[in-house]
Amino acid sequence: MGHDALMDPFSSKAHFLLYEICMLTIGSYGDVTVTVPNVLILGTVGQPLLLPANYTTGTKDHNIQITWTFQSQSSGSMLLVTAVNNTLTPDMEHGHRFFLSPPSASLLINPVELRDDGEYTIKVTVSGMKLASASRQLIVQVNVPVSKPVVRSDPAWGAVEYVDNATLSCTVTRGTKVIYQWLKDGKPLLPSSRHIFSSDNKMLFISPVLKDDLSNYTCVAKNPISMNESEPIAPNIYYGPYDLMVKSEPRFKVSEGVFTAGKGEPVWFKCSANSNPPNVYSWFQKADNKTTPIQWGPVLNIKSEKVPDKADYMCCVYNNITGKRDETQFTFILSATVVKEELYHRSPAYYTQAHQVSEEREPPVDDYGIYEFVAVPEPAQFQQVRPEKLKTVYDIIREPNAHTTVYEVICHSPKTS
Ligand SMILES: *[C@@H]1O[C@H](CO)[C@@H](O)[C@H](O)[C@H]1NC(C)=O
Ligand SMILES: *[C@@H]1O[C@H](CO)[C@@H](O)[C@H](O)[C@H]1NC(C)=O
Ligand SMILES: *[C@@H]1O[C@H](CO)[C@@H](O)[C@H](O)[C@H]1NC(C)=O
Ligand SMILES: *[C@@H]1O[C@H](CO)[C@@H](O)[C@H](O)[C@H]1NC(C)=O
Ligand SMILES: *[C@@H]1O[C@H](CO)[C@@H](O)[C@H](O)[C@H]1NC(C)=O
Ligand SMILES: *[C@@H]1O[C@H](CO)[C@@H](O)[C@H](O)[C@H]1NC(C)=O
Ligand SMILES: *[C@@H]1O[C@H](CO)[C@@H](O)[C@H](O)[C@H]1NC(C)=O
Repeated sequence: MGHDALMDPFSSKAHFLLYEICMLTIGSYGDVTVTVPNVLILGTVGQPLLLPANYTTGTKDHNIQITWTFQSQSSGSMLLVTAVNNTLTPDMEHGHRFFLSPPSASLLINPVELRDDGEYTIKVTVSGMKLASASRQLIVQVNVPVSKPVVRSDPAWGAVEYVDNATLSCTVTRGTKVIYQWLKDGKPLLPSSRHIFSSDNKMLFISPVLKDDLSNYTCVAKNPISMNESEPIAPNIYYGPYDLMVKSEPRFKVSEGVFTAGKGEPVWFKCSANSNPPNVYSWFQKADNKTTPIQWGPVLNIKSEKVPDKADYMCCVYNNITGKRDETQFTFILSATVVKEELYHRSPAYYTQAHQVSEEREPPVDDYGIYEFVAVPEPAQFQQVRPEKLKTVYDIIREPNAHTTVYEVICHSPKTS
């Protein structure tokens, strides 16, 4: 190889002796110092890459040879380019991508390729009276910039909370030495008992999914030269119904679950519950011992001249994907006929029995029934046995003036007619 030839220059032996004599008077004449940055040099495939290097010599009048060699595990060691004084001798095999412009010692690689990953050695040799040389190494790492990551959610159609698991996977089409990171609503997502990452972090496994997982997820793909972020993806999670409630104009509200209006006043009730997909809403009226399905949809309009003096209404919500239901009931009384109900004097035993009836209806599907109001003696006793599910009725009980109009409900199976 070219530089080996110079390391053993027969002819310079004589010069060398001569130089030793001169040195006594000239001092550091002939010293060579090579300087390179002491960091990893990062290259981007397809771009030019400069390997900076400086040298100093104590002389101006001698041959200066600059040689760059390359070494990697895959390609072994090879000479890239050499220059003597200002005359360049590119290597015939590699010279078309490696450029040196003496007197600068920096090497330009253009364009840089992945196979240029490895160790580069610059050697500067001064030959004249004396032969002196110095060399330095540079480590180069070449990368392909990461393309925009794409996140896929599986199952794509959606996952039912508490039942299904979801997997988010992140892929990039281009990029080397890529590392992945996940963000939930812009903040780093940490592993937890329900959030598990694959060892390469490309996959996020959520088991089981909850409503709380309904967020925007982004995958960040990074390598030493670049970073790219996916579009946010929000997995489809089916949940609910939650937070069921019935609203009307405040002026119609007497207490929790009890509304009143004058005869002839148009009254609306809006039933709402948080759910995905949107709930199916149905309304029932119960008066004079008859239960009638009256309407579909979230809004119930009552023409108060056409309704019984007192009737109970029930809004039923049903999520047809999660299969869960909820219902809430309220009483509507025409104001001309508002009469405070007499308290029934029933024993707590009766009351407990009523509670058990509703407890036996445990499977959710059986909750889909008609609820009957039953007066109870004391709010305190009611609280001891309150059915956990009937939150809205419980709210009636808690109403301060509810001790005059206290209700409990007993579930009946829907009568199929
Ligand atoms: C080379 O020398 C120049 C000028 O003195 C300096 O700016 C540059 O940082 C040096 N480069 C290296 C690799 O030492
Ligand atoms: C290199 O340059 C020096 C000083 O300018 C000169 O003495 C020497 O002959 C040159 N060597 C070659 C090979 O051109
Ligand atoms: C992300 O990748 C796309 C191509 O997939 C590219 O156009 C874009 O410039 C990249 N963004 C960054 C910040 O590197
Ligand atoms: C969800 O993952 C758990 C393990 O993490 C597994 O036991 C369960 O069967 C999975 N559920 C579904 C619906 O695939
Ligand atoms: C995701 O982000 C978009 C845009 O900021 C926002 O409209 C949407 O509500 C977010 N989705 C979730 C589930 O947070
Ligand atoms: C489930 O309910 C949604 C919302 O009301 C409705 O659009 C959809 O058609 C229903 N799907 C089935 C299978 O009943
Ligand atoms: C409702 O039914 C109960 C018991 O079945 C009965 O005692 C009551 O008289 C009925 N009320 C009306 C208004 O029909």
